Amino acid sequence: MRVLLLGSGGREHALATALVADPSVTALVCVPGNPGIAVLRLASGGRVQLADGDICDPAVVAALAVDHAADLVVVGPEAPLVAGVADGLRAKGIATFGPSGAAAMLEGSKAFAKDVMLAAGVPTAGSRVCQTRAELEAALDTFGSPYVVKDDGLAAGKGVIVTDDRAAALAHGLACGRVVVEEYLAGPEVSLFVVTDGTAAVPLVPAQDFKRVADGDQGPNTGGMGAYAPLPWASPSLVDDVMRSVVRLTLAELASRGTPFAGLLYVGLVLTAEGPKVIEFNCRFGDPETQVVLALLETPLAGLLHAAATGCLATHPSLRWRDGAAVTVVLAAAGYPETPRRGDVITGADGVPGIIHAGTARSADDGTLRSAGGRVLCATATGQTLGAARDAAYRLMEQVTLEGGHYRKDIAAVASIGGSIMPGAS
Ligand code: AMP
Ligand code: GLY
Repeated sequence: MRVLLLGSGGREHALATALVADPSVTALVCVPGNPGIAVLRLASGGRVQLADGDICDPAVVAALAVDHAADLVVVGPEAPLVAGVADGLRAKGIATFGPSGAAAMLEGSKAFAKDVMLAAGVPTAGSRVCQTRAELEAALDTFGSPYVVKDDGLAAGKGVIVTDDRAAALAHGLACGRVVVEEYLAGPEVSLFVVTDGTAAVPLVPAQDFKRVADGDQGPNTGGMGAYAPLPWASPSLVDDVMRSVVRLTLAELASRGTPFAGLLYVGLVLTAEGPKVIEFNCRFGDPETQVVLALLETPLAGLLHAAATGCLATHPSLRWRDGAAVTVVLAAAGYPETPRRGDVITGADGVPGIIHAGTARSADDGTLRSAGGRVLCATATGQTLGAARDAAYRLMEQVTLEGGHYRKDIAAVASIGGSIMPGAS
């Protein structure tokens, strides 16, 4: 099978690693890829290639898929999906893993996602869509502190503020324009990925992400500073409960609207005292949770994604998982998340197994690896226990240097000693 993979982040490096490990993959073309994926090219005996092109332009992507005779296109990030890239590919009869532009609005608009959840009877935080200052002020006072204000549109993980400071919540809302203000949900957070062809749905192992920039869940929200899987503290019925109370209802609602969701449904949950409630849907694999979930998946990934892309998921064999646990720790650039600095030299990360590249670039001048984004790379490791995986991930991270770089020291710390509640939750 020839696979075209779109995207350039840590998620795509993890996806590329898993896709080339699938013996059915004869060629993997990554657009545009990153320096970590470029190293895979050598390690895979030339099966991996990098190509250029605007991945948000449906016509460009369809032409690339045709040129490379792709049997399957895997769309990594949300922006091309919301831009209708999957629709353009399907119109040409190319098997595509990723939802249509209409179904991707589950991530593209928080207000749309709330509307779907309400119609489907999916448990989620109470909310209001606000467009004016008066509506915003009234909603802040209705829901009270801590205030949760979300930009309605795509914001690369930076559209949400959760704060006790009403003035900050108001300022964020006014700066965004159309926002969703919602009730604060207390409890541990869980990310559940579900592979679906629109009808059949297969959950992957649940993971936990760490959204705040600093240890102890302090500081601003980020795209995610680390993750681990599985969740030793979670109830054995958690996944079945979420499939029943969230996933099947949401898929049925979208299908009934004539916009079935086929691809990866990312369910972001808070486990409240009243049960799991949805805080967000995404229309693609999460980053950095993908790094840990795929590190544990034994089933060949390309076969699974191809089955979902071609409506054959119901007959796909049950997934197989490795024993043990996986942990990933994100190294962020100086100034992240507000004003990440670029161009700093990175050492200890070139071609190192377990180091997943995200915001890295190879200098055209001297060939050194340099930072090129807020989340620069992550160190991922597996182990027989969560504690062993955590130790191995931090040992790997300690070999990397980046001036001004910072990473959390407490990823999976509580869970690895038998705790359950994420720092900051109550
Ligand atoms: P989102 O982009 O909607 O996932 O929000 C980013 C992060 O903000 C989440 O991962 C949570 O940590 C936090 N958050 C979002 N909504 C809520 C909520 N209703 N209650 C508490 N925390 C929330
Ligand atoms: N880790 C959060 C996300 O991918 O949106």
